[in-house]
Amino acid sequence: MSQNKEELKNKIAEAHLGGGEKRIAKQHHQKKLTARERVDYLLDEGSFEEIGILVTHRTTDFGMENQKFYGDGVVTGYGTINSRLVYVFAQDFTVFGGSLSETHAEKICKVMDHAMKVGAPIIGLNDSGGARIQEGVRSLGGYADIFYRNVQASGVIPQISAIMGPCAGGAVYSPAMTDFTLMVQDTSYMFVTGPNVVKTVTNENVTSEELGGASTHSTKSGVTHLTSVSDIACLEDIKKLLSYLPQNNKETTEKLPYEFDDEHREKLESIVPDSSNKPYDMHEVIKGIIDVDSFFEIHKNYAANIIVGFARLGGRSIGIVANQPMSLAGVLDVDSSKKAARFTRFCDCFNIPLLVLVDVPGFLPGTDQEWNGIILHGAKLLYALSEATVPRVTVITRKAYGGAYDVMNSKHIGADLNFAWPTAEIAVMGAKGASEIIFRKEIQESGNPELKLSEKEAEYAEKFATPFEAAQRGFIDEVIMPKDTRRKLLKAFSMLENKTVLRADRKHGNIPL
Ligand code: COA
Repeated sequence: MSQNKEELKNKIAEAHLGGGEKRIAKQHHQKKLTARERVDYLLDEGSFEEIGILVTHRTTDFGMENQKFYGDGVVTGYGTINSRLVYVFAQDFTVFGGSLSETHAEKICKVMDHAMKVGAPIIGLNDSGGARIQEGVRSLGGYADIFYRNVQASGVIPQISAIMGPCAGGAVYSPAMTDFTLMVQDTSYMFVTGPNVVKTVTNENVTSEELGGASTHSTKSGVTHLTSVSDIACLEDIKKLLSYLPQNNKETTEKLPYEFDDEHREKLESIVPDSSNKPYDMHEVIKGIIDVDSFFEIHKNYAANIIVGFARLGGRSIGIVANQPMSLAGVLDVDSSKKAARFTRFCDCFNIPLLVLVDVPGFLPGTDQEWNGIILHGAKLLYALSEATVPRVTVITRKAYGGAYDVMNSKHIGADLNFAWPTAEIAVMGAKGASEIIFRKEIQESGNPELKLSEKEAEYAEKFATPFEAAQRGFIDEVIMPKDTRRKLLKAFSMLENKTVLRADRKHGNIPL
């Protein structure tokens, strides 16, 4: 009996050493924490309970029967973050490069199944050389078992993936199907095929970092939602992200203590410039509405013409989708539509109310946009907002032109309350463009076409470059002073707290993909 106790102690000590001190030192040298260090930092002190510490692989090919490490390259279990239950798996690069074997996958599936049964978030810390090459199709099967679970868990529990080292080949598809992907700058990369294969197939010379580093995925592809400067920063970001999310799709977020800064609220009165073509920073509008320091931006460097992120209003989590006049005048294009649609759907899955701030001159014209399917991608946002049943409130700060007016959470697609500032311009298009079309003949035939155009422009602007026509129709519920926005929104979201919407019975909708 005492021999077993001794053996257990030895096995646990061995497991804690992963692939051994040399490989741990290499990991540290690369400015990476080990899997266990990551789990320890992520979870509340002493809260981690490991599951499957003594699991080893079952492979006997290629001399593998003589190379066994307890845990088989992944640390799995549960614990708490700020006292809330989460499940976690952390791939251990010191054991076979964190590669995924059949048993490694089984361990991950086990905690995913637990998370689903209990209704708690699952967090994956990825650091892996991909499929365990010695296991062939068994490891590919393991990936698919995880993918399948990712899909079953989608919209039921929050799924968060951090990429903290390599993530290549089939391995990328699990993070891609989770709700949020975080990457660590300089030490992580993600790609379907690496630089060598790229060179062979397309003759392109590209480094791992260029092909799939954090900077690439946070700006060009949008694959990653957040980039962190180090392992520690990434783990902090996960904790912060989690603070805005409920445990599962049946719960709402907890109400936290909050503060508000009146100075920012007052600044809203003068934030919209006199000239309707001049930009201003929508982040400043957000600051003047939400609780102090509560904005957590997602996809910050991708499609900057739309801002998405979580914030708190009166201590409660909300999701914000906002056009950004500072970037491409805030137009909707392929990338911004996809970005906002995905975020909207996440909020809707997890009962997070939506605030939509509108200053949009329309959709971006051009062959590039048309040939890349702006029709389909724009439709994604339209679809996502139309299907969302969470409380939805809109504030139009300035432009709401054309089809983009409809898309940006208009009353017609089911928004609950639509506010506009007195500076709002709600029209089919800008006054100049509109006058050039509808008064073309009159302008051409006048003795002074330029003067005529400006007269007609003023006439059109007076009628439509205001919120009043829309308010008369009831498309806008109230025209409000900018400094009152926070107060109005607090009341609106509180009034909408118990909103319920029944939808027609169907398997699922068919969002344009
Ligand atoms: N299967 C089995 N073992 C693997 C592995 C895999 N997919 N990927 C890495 N390893 C092992 C290596 O053999 C090495 O073992 P060792 O410590 O006993 O020498 C260890 O993990 C570390 O790998 P190493 O290549 O030394 O690390 P690196 O930091 O120099 O490179 C990678 C990391 C991911 C670029 C490199 O390991 C690699 O290319 N792996 C294969 C990727 C792949 O093609 N995967 C299969 C398709 S999904």
